[in-house]
Amino acid sequence: MTHVVTEPCIRCRYTDCVESCPVNCFHVGPTFVVIDPECCIDCALCVPTCPIEAIKHADELTPSEEAFRALNVKYARVWPVGVHRAPPLPDREAWREVQDKRPWLEGPEPSPNP
Ligand code: F3S
Repeated sequence: MTHVVTEPCIRCRYTDCVESCPVNCFHVGPTFVVIDPECCIDCALCVPTCPIEAIKHADELTPSEEAFRALNVKYARVWPVGVHRAPPLPDREAWREVQDKRPWLEGPEPSPNP
């Protein structure tokens, strides 16, 4: 099993989590991070580091979060490994209440009024 990064991270991306991973499983994209399930050792050290509780164990995903399992696999193959914190995205507050941010996961430009 693995841990999975879910919806709240999109357009927020605090990156506190990446430095907690002892095996460097996090891959960082323009608006979101993902966990490579083939790398994750299920230590759960990253879970409490996320201030918005975006990281879940795969067994705890709700039906509406299941799509994030595949999204973590997909983008772990594309985005580079991240091991250092970066500033969170500047318009994260504008995106906080958006229910499904997946269409804006890859960018290109942030829009606070999606
Ligand atoms: Fe995202 Fe939380 Fe990490 S917002 S980048 S999962 S600390």
